Amino acid sequence: MRLKLRVWRQPESSAAGKLVEYDAPEVSPDMSFLEMLDVVNEGLTARGEEPIAFDHDCREGICGACGFMINGLAHGGERGTTVCQLHMRNFQDGDELTLEPWRARAFPVIRDLVVDRGAFDRIIQSGGYVSVNTGTAPDGNAIPVPKSAADVAMDAAQCIGCGACVAQCPNGAAQLFTAAKVSHLGLLPQGQPERDERAVRMVARLEEEMFGSCTNYGECEAACPKSISIDFIAQMNRDYLKARVRPKRQAKAAGGAG
Ligand code: SF4
Ligand code: FES
Repeated sequence: MRLKLRVWRQPESSAAGKLVEYDAPEVSPDMSFLEMLDVVNEGLTARGEEPIAFDHDCREGICGACGFMINGLAHGGERGTTVCQLHMRNFQDGDELTLEPWRARAFPVIRDLVVDRGAFDRIIQSGGYVSVNTGTAPDGNAIPVPKSAADVAMDAAQCIGCGACVAQCPNGAAQLFTAAKVSHLGLLPQGQPERDERAVRMVARLEEEMFGSCTNYGECEAACPKSISIDFIAQMNRDYLKARVRPKRQAKAAGGAG
Protein backbone atom coordinates (compact mmCIF):
# COMPACT_ATOMS: atom_id res chain seq x y z
CA MET A 1 0.00 0.00 0.00
CA ARG A 2 1.03 3.58 -0.55
CA LEU A 3 -0.32 6.30 1.74
CA LYS A 4 -0.13 10.04 1.91
CA LEU A 5 0.36 11.41 5.44
CA ARG A 6 -0.23 14.94 6.63
CA VAL A 7 1.48 15.17 10.00
CA TRP A 8 1.40 17.97 12.57
CA ARG A 9 5.01 19.11 13.04
CA GLN A 10 5.77 21.41 15.95
CA PRO A 11 9.35 21.55 17.24
CA GLU A 12 8.38 22.67 20.75
CA SER A 13 5.46 23.98 22.83
CA SER A 14 6.15 27.64 22.18
CA ALA A 15 6.80 27.24 18.43
CA ALA A 16 4.14 27.45 15.73
CA GLY A 17 3.10 24.13 14.21
CA LYS A 18 1.97 23.14 10.74
CA LEU A 19 0.85 20.10 8.76
CA VAL A 20 3.62 18.60 6.62
CA GLU A 21 3.02 16.04 3.85
CA TYR A 22 4.91 12.75 3.70
CA ASP A 23 4.75 9.83 1.34
CA ALA A 24 4.54 6.38 2.97
CA PRO A 25 5.31 3.82 0.23
CA GLU A 26 5.49 0.04 0.69
CA VAL A 27 3.23 -0.12 3.74
CA SER A 28 2.40 -3.69 4.69
CA PRO A 29 -1.18 -4.38 5.84
CA ASP A 30 0.34 -6.37 8.71
CA MET A 31 2.17 -3.38 10.17
CA SER A 32 0.77 -1.62 13.18
CA PHE A 33 0.20 2.11 12.74
CA LEU A 34 3.26 2.88 14.88
CA GLU A 35 5.41 0.46 12.87
CA MET A 36 4.34 2.32 9.74
CA LEU A 37 5.47 5.58 11.40
CA ASP A 38 8.76 3.90 12.41
CA VAL A 39 9.42 3.19 8.72
CA VAL A 40 8.55 6.76 7.75
CA ASN A 41 10.92 7.97 10.48
CA GLU A 42 13.74 5.73 9.22
CA GLY A 43 13.38 7.44 5.83
CA LEU A 44 13.39 10.90 7.43
CA THR A 45 16.47 10.08 9.51
CA ALA A 46 18.27 8.71 6.44
CA ARG A 47 17.59 12.03 4.69
CA GLY A 48 18.93 13.97 7.68
CA GLU A 49 15.46 15.25 8.68
CA GLU A 50 13.92 15.25 12.16
CA PRO A 51 11.81 12.12 12.79
CA ILE A 52 8.16 12.55 13.77
CA ALA A 53 7.84 12.50 17.57
CA PHE A 54 5.05 10.33 19.01
CA ASP A 55 4.48 8.74 22.42
CA HIS A 56 4.51 4.97 22.87
CA ASP A 57 5.73 2.33 25.27
CA CYS A 58 4.12 -1.12 25.54
CA ARG A 59 2.64 -1.24 22.02
CA GLU A 60 0.20 -3.79 23.44
CA GLY A 61 -2.72 -1.50 24.30
CA ILE A 62 -2.11 -1.57 28.04
CA CYS A 63 0.15 1.33 29.10
CA GLY A 64 -1.79 4.34 27.77
CA ALA A 65 1.30 6.11 26.41
CA CYS A 66 0.28 6.22 22.76
CA GLY A 67 -2.43 8.27 21.16
CA PHE A 68 -3.09 10.90 18.50
CA MET A 69 -5.85 11.83 16.09
CA ILE A 70 -6.11 10.16 12.69
CA ASN A 71 -8.46 12.05 10.39
CA GLY A 72 -10.08 13.63 13.44
CA LEU A 73 -10.64 10.38 15.33
CA ALA A 74 -8.80 9.55 18.55
CA HIS A 75 -6.66 6.41 18.12
CA GLY A 76 -7.99 6.18 14.54
CA GLY A 77 -11.60 5.44 15.46
CA GLU A 78 -11.42 1.63 15.51
CA ARG A 79 -13.66 0.53 18.42
CA GLY A 80 -11.80 -0.47 21.59
CA THR A 81 -8.37 -0.05 19.97
CA THR A 82 -5.34 2.03 20.87
CA VAL A 83 -3.29 3.42 17.99
CA CYS A 84 -0.48 0.96 18.80
CA GLN A 85 -2.90 -1.90 18.21
CA LEU A 86 -4.39 -0.39 15.07
CA HIS A 87 -3.20 -2.21 11.96
CA MET A 88 -2.67 -0.92 8.46
CA ARG A 89 -5.13 -3.48 7.06
CA ASN A 90 -7.83 -1.06 8.28
CA PHE A 91 -6.75 1.40 5.58
CA GLN A 92 -6.82 1.37 1.79
CA ASP A 93 -4.08 1.89 -0.77
CA GLY A 94 -3.98 5.61 -1.64
CA ASP A 95 -5.59 6.79 1.62
CA GLU A 96 -4.71 10.28 2.82
CA LEU A 97 -4.34 10.45 6.58
CA THR A 98 -4.04 13.55 8.73
CA LEU A 99 -2.23 12.97 12.03
CA GLU A 100 -2.61 15.52 14.79
CA PRO A 101 -1.86 15.53 18.52
CA TRP A 102 -4.65 15.46 21.11
CA ARG A 103 -6.29 18.88 20.84
CA ALA A 104 -7.22 20.07 24.35
CA ARG A 105 -6.29 23.12 26.37
CA ALA A 106 -5.28 20.92 29.31
CA PHE A 107 -2.87 18.89 27.14
CA PRO A 108 -0.29 21.32 25.71
CA VAL A 109 1.72 20.04 22.77
CA ILE A 110 5.31 19.16 23.70
CA ARG A 111 6.44 18.24 20.21
CA ASP A 112 4.73 16.99 17.02
CA LEU A 113 2.21 14.34 18.19
CA VAL A 114 3.33 14.34 21.84
CA VAL A 115 1.29 16.19 24.47
CA ASP A 116 1.76 16.81 28.17
CA ARG A 117 -0.81 14.75 30.11
CA GLY A 118 0.51 15.86 33.51
CA ALA A 119 -3.00 17.12 34.37
CA PHE A 120 -4.11 13.47 34.63
CA ASP A 121 -1.25 12.74 37.06
CA ARG A 122 -2.30 15.67 39.24
CA ILE A 123 -5.90 14.38 39.37
CA ILE A 124 -4.61 10.98 40.52
CA GLN A 125 -2.32 12.61 43.09
CA SER A 126 -5.31 14.44 44.56
CA GLY A 127 -7.08 11.25 45.67
CA GLY A 128 -6.61 8.24 43.38
CA TYR A 129 -5.19 5.97 46.06
CA VAL A 130 -6.12 4.00 49.16
CA SER A 131 -4.25 5.10 52.33
CA VAL A 132 -3.57 2.05 54.47
CA ASN A 133 -0.81 0.89 56.71
CA THR A 134 -0.18 -2.29 54.77
CA GLY A 135 2.06 -4.01 57.33
CA THR A 136 2.86 -7.53 56.24
CA ALA A 137 1.33 -9.02 53.12
CA PRO A 138 -2.40 -9.50 53.83
CA ASP A 139 -4.22 -12.76 53.24
CA GLY A 140 -5.75 -12.56 49.78
CA ASN A 141 -9.18 -13.48 51.16
CA ALA A 142 -9.09 -11.35 54.33
CA ILE A 143 -11.39 -8.75 52.80
CA PRO A 144 -14.10 -10.53 50.82
CA VAL A 145 -15.09 -8.54 47.73
CA PRO A 146 -18.56 -9.27 46.32
CA LYS A 147 -18.32 -10.56 42.75
CA SER A 148 -20.68 -7.86 41.48
CA ALA A 149 -18.49 -5.10 43.02
CA ALA A 150 -15.27 -6.67 41.75
CA ASP A 151 -16.67 -6.89 38.21
CA VAL A 152 -17.75 -3.25 38.02
CA ALA A 153 -14.58 -1.99 39.74
CA MET A 154 -12.54 -3.97 37.22
CA ASP A 155 -14.46 -2.37 34.34
CA ALA A 156 -13.44 1.06 35.67
CA ALA A 157 -9.87 -0.05 36.44
CA GLN A 158 -9.32 -0.76 32.77
CA CYS A 159 -8.75 2.95 32.10
CA ILE A 160 -5.17 3.32 30.86
CA GLY A 161 -5.08 7.13 31.14
CA CYS A 162 -4.48 7.69 27.42
CA GLY A 163 -6.50 10.91 27.14
CA ALA A 164 -8.55 9.96 24.08
CA CYS A 165 -11.75 10.79 25.96
CA VAL A 166 -10.58 14.38 26.46
CA ALA A 167 -9.32 14.73 22.89
CA GLN A 168 -12.58 13.50 21.34
CA CYS A 169 -14.87 15.50 23.62
CA PRO A 170 -16.03 18.77 21.99
CA ASN A 171 -15.68 20.35 25.46
CA GLY A 172 -12.25 18.88 26.18
CA ALA A 173 -13.73 17.41 29.38
CA ALA A 174 -11.97 14.78 31.50
CA GLN A 175 -15.03 13.43 33.31
CA LEU A 176 -14.69 9.88 31.95
CA PHE A 177 -11.06 9.51 33.04
CA THR A 178 -11.73 11.00 36.49
CA ALA A 179 -14.90 8.96 36.95
CA ALA A 180 -13.06 5.73 36.10
CA LYS A 181 -10.36 6.52 38.65
CA VAL A 182 -12.85 7.59 41.36
CA SER A 183 -15.01 4.53 40.78
CA HIS A 184 -12.49 1.73 40.58
CA LEU A 185 -11.45 2.45 44.17
CA GLY A 186 -14.81 3.71 45.44
CA LEU A 187 -16.61 0.51 44.49
CA LEU A 188 -14.31 -1.80 46.47
CA PRO A 189 -14.56 -2.41 50.25
CA GLN A 190 -10.96 -1.22 50.65
CA GLY A 191 -11.90 2.11 49.08
CA GLN A 192 -14.86 2.92 51.35
CA PRO A 193 -13.12 4.85 54.21
CA GLU A 194 -11.93 7.55 51.78
CA ARG A 195 -14.78 7.33 49.27
CA ASP A 196 -16.35 10.72 50.00
CA GLU A 197 -13.07 12.57 50.40
CA ARG A 198 -11.68 10.96 47.23
CA ALA A 199 -14.64 12.07 45.10
CA VAL A 200 -14.52 15.64 46.44
CA ARG A 201 -10.76 15.99 46.04
CA MET A 202 -10.52 14.49 42.57
CA VAL A 203 -13.46 16.50 41.23
CA ALA A 204 -11.96 19.67 42.75
CA ARG A 205 -8.65 18.95 41.03
CA LEU A 206 -10.44 18.20 37.77
CA GLU A 207 -12.04 21.63 37.98
CA GLU A 208 -8.68 23.32 38.71
CA GLU A 209 -7.06 21.87 35.59
CA MET A 210 -7.85 23.40 32.21
CA PHE A 211 -10.47 20.82 31.20
CA GLY A 212 -13.90 21.72 29.88
CA SER A 213 -17.22 20.69 31.41
CA CYS A 214 -19.17 17.54 30.57
CA THR A 215 -22.43 18.13 28.68
CA ASN A 216 -23.14 14.46 27.93
CA TYR A 217 -22.02 14.29 24.29
CA GLY A 218 -20.88 10.68 24.90
CA GLU A 219 -17.97 11.03 22.47
CA CYS A 220 -15.61 9.97 25.28
CA GLU A 221 -17.18 6.52 25.63
CA ALA A 222 -17.15 6.02 21.85
CA ALA A 223 -13.47 6.97 21.58
CA CYS A 224 -12.26 5.12 24.67
CA PRO A 225 -10.00 2.20 23.69
CA LYS A 226 -11.10 0.40 26.87
CA SER A 227 -14.82 1.07 26.31
CA ILE A 228 -15.22 2.70 29.73
CA SER A 229 -18.93 3.39 30.20
CA ILE A 230 -20.23 6.91 30.82
CA ASP A 231 -22.31 5.31 33.60
CA PHE A 232 -19.20 5.89 35.71
CA ILE A 233 -19.65 9.65 35.27
CA ALA A 234 -23.11 9.34 36.82
CA GLN A 235 -21.58 7.23 39.61
CA MET A 236 -18.92 9.90 40.26
CA ASN A 237 -21.52 12.67 40.29
CA ARG A 238 -23.62 10.71 42.82
CA ASP A 239 -20.58 10.14 45.05
CA TYR A 240 -19.62 13.80 44.81
CA LEU A 241 -23.11 15.05 45.62
CA LYS A 242 -23.49 12.66 48.55
CA ALA A 243 -20.11 13.73 49.91
CA ARG A 244 -21.01 17.41 49.67
CA VAL A 245 -24.60 17.14 50.90
CA ARG A 246 -24.19 14.57 53.71
CA PRO A 247 -21.97 16.72 56.00
CA LYS A 248 -24.33 19.68 55.57
CA ARG A 249 -27.34 17.53 56.51
CA GLN A 250 -25.48 16.10 59.50
CA ALA A 251 -24.50 19.60 60.65
CA LYS A 252 -28.09 20.76 60.25
CA ALA A 253 -29.41 17.74 62.16
CA ALA A 254 -26.86 18.31 64.93
CA GLY A 255 -27.84 21.99 65.10
CA GLY A 256 -31.51 21.09 65.22
CA ALA A 257 -30.92 18.53 67.97
CA GLY A 258 -29.04 21.10 70.05
S1 SF4 B 1 -11.39 6.74 30.07
FE1 SF4 B 1 -10.72 5.62 28.20
S2 SF4 B 1 -10.14 7.23 26.75
FE2 SF4 B 1 -10.17 8.17 28.80
S3 SF4 B 1 -8.10 8.03 29.60
FE3 SF4 B 1 -9.21 6.19 30.32
S4 SF4 B 1 -8.80 4.63 28.74
FE4 SF4 B 1 -8.23 6.59 27.79
S1 FES C 1 1.92 2.04 23.52
FE1 FES C 1 1.04 1.29 25.38
S2 FES C 1 -1.11 1.48 25.00
FE2 FES C 1 -0.20 2.05 23.10
